[in-house]
Amino acid sequence: MSGTIQSVLQENRKFDPPPSEGACFDSMQAYQALQDRFFDDMEGTWRELAHAHLSWRKPFTRVLNRDQAPFFRWFEDGELNVSENCLDRHVEAGLGKRTAIIWEGEPGEVRRISYEALLHDVCRAANAMREMGIEQGDRVVIYMPMVPEAAVAMLACSRIGATHSVVFGAFSAQALKERIEDAGAKLVITADGGYRRGAVHDLKSSVDEALKTGCACVRHVLVVKRGGNDIGWRQGRDIDWHEALKVQPDTCEPVSLSSEHPLFILYTSGSTGKPKGIVHSSGGFLLWARLTMQWTFDFRPKDDVFWCTADIGWITGHTYSVYGPLACGGTTLMYEGVPTYPDAGRLWKICAAHSVTVFYTAPTAIRALIKAGDEWPAKHDLSKLRILGTVGEPINPEAWIWYYTVIGGERCPIVDTWWQTETGGHMLSPLPFATPTKPGSATFPLPGIFAAVVDNEGKPVGKGEGGLLVITQPWPAMLRGIWGDPKRYEETYWHKFGNRYYFAGDGARCDEDGYFWIMGRVDDVLNVSGHRLGTMEVESALVSHELVAEAAIVGRPDDVKGEAIFAFVVLKGECDDPAALEAILRKHVSQEIGPIAKPDDIRFAGSLPKTRSGKIMRRLLRDIAAGREITQDISTLEDQKVIEQLQGQQ
Ligand code: PRX
Repeated sequence: MSGTIQSVLQENRKFDPPPSEGACFDSMQAYQALQDRFFDDMEGTWRELAHAHLSWRKPFTRVLNRDQAPFFRWFEDGELNVSENCLDRHVEAGLGKRTAIIWEGEPGEVRRISYEALLHDVCRAANAMREMGIEQGDRVVIYMPMVPEAAVAMLACSRIGATHSVVFGAFSAQALKERIEDAGAKLVITADGGYRRGAVHDLKSSVDEALKTGCACVRHVLVVKRGGNDIGWRQGRDIDWHEALKVQPDTCEPVSLSSEHPLFILYTSGSTGKPKGIVHSSGGFLLWARLTMQWTFDFRPKDDVFWCTADIGWITGHTYSVYGPLACGGTTLMYEGVPTYPDAGRLWKICAAHSVTVFYTAPTAIRALIKAGDEWPAKHDLSKLRILGTVGEPINPEAWIWYYTVIGGERCPIVDTWWQTETGGHMLSPLPFATPTKPGSATFPLPGIFAAVVDNEGKPVGKGEGGLLVITQPWPAMLRGIWGDPKRYEETYWHKFGNRYYFAGDGARCDEDGYFWIMGRVDDVLNVSGHRLGTMEVESALVSHELVAEAAIVGRPDDVKGEAIFAFVVLKGECDDPAALEAILRKHVSQEIGPIAKPDDIRFAGSLPKTRSGKIMRRLLRDIAAGREITQDISTLEDQKVIEQLQGQQ
């Protein structure tokens, strides 16, 4: 079926937005009117929105401080508390009984947590953390499965002014350790384990391992009991979450914090060195989380059930599973397990069972579910869905059309949202009831966002020409820096264009109608199943194995994952059994980083092709990995035989 779709599909086909009564934006004129207001009076427009959409403990007077650009500060003399904005104000408005979180465990149990109950839990957790010595400004690492306690932990941190850093639960002990140490966390909140593919995935043992070899900063480990699996216990250090919360009062006065107070640090991969701790603020981040919920998803808190399938270990889970929906006072759904357990119908079954109205996932998941067959969605009632979203990587038109027809019944607009860990929230996206969509295009910048496609010198490129995507004005949810490394922040995002533009690291083009098309990373960052991975990170993991002398990682196009990881490895000595060694190296990378970084293919060679200046010829390696014809001039290569080896011919 999908083959026929692709053959009739033209990339410039347009889909008009359906009408929707009471939509936040119901026409392109409405979008343009707000964008014009920003253009005419950027600060005044942000001022109005920030006053209208957040509860301030101390109102701000200054909107944007550019004095130390590119270290921008937003609403800096204002004070607020994020958890108060996400919980108390809704309870005070009489919405305490409304469901804040619907949670479904992988085995099938369901919990519905009201705003009132969530507030009580958050207060208990905040009090318990205080009792453990956590103070304003301390860092707390959260290493959890997708259970409501993960959201409780995040909100509890924000209540007392601790900065959280969530580490994806499938990262290895080694990766966890690096992040705990970089953040200097005093407390780690974890669980015994969580369900994945029908079995309990142990988390606590990774924490134990991380702490065994370092992390002197950590004083306590707070452990949620979820998996019921056997775990080690260190008296004095480890504390049972349930026991600790049980004895705490269910009220806790929220701390009044500067708008610029770091709400969280989230580690993400860059093209060089170790993952960087992206720092996000309180006021600016929350404002954008709330506004984009309303604008991009036309979120209607009274009626919608919103489901973002991302794990809270990623920015998408932060902004759109937790902070965005809760800041709006709506209902967010969390699911613990894998999308295909026990079968490929699980996501659609959950949508039907909980009457999900807005569904947000990654193209890689869509492509995997297309492969599973149309019979799975056909078994479930998806008629409540009204908006579909995608994020994390370019969506191929074929997957877009499937999503639109088979899941959305040609009724639901698709919002293809382009953004990054660094941007805090959506940047380019259709507005569901205003923007005519083109499959594969993230369409236009949201109101308040100014984007352009430029050449290496920063000059705008012509229509249809490829270039670099930049953001030309600061925005409230922009990252505030890289934890502990201000220089790297300036170098990575700002120096390329003399501090004038934020450089996103993506290639893009604008078509004749002004639609933005994202063309993927222009640096050495891979996008594997919507997960960002630095080639250097995987190379370092490989080289840390005693048998490996040198390694180069490139991406290879993959039908489902978007990009697969292809490794070229030079060994220190001879190898009799490449297949066995390949398995050993895959396992090694998994231990160093996590299963998501495991190379899909490893090819051994006597050396790697390099330029005269000693740079690895990555374009050549990419061609070899993809099985394409080699386009690079290789006549200068000393050892032509290497090419044959790399191509797997020897
Ligand atoms: O290359 C872009 C791609 O994902 C990168 C950001 O990755 P990360 O910080 O992990 O955040 C992912 C979720 C926000 C971007 O630089 N990307 C993200 N969304 C899209 C996308 N590429 C194309 N289309 C998108 N909608």
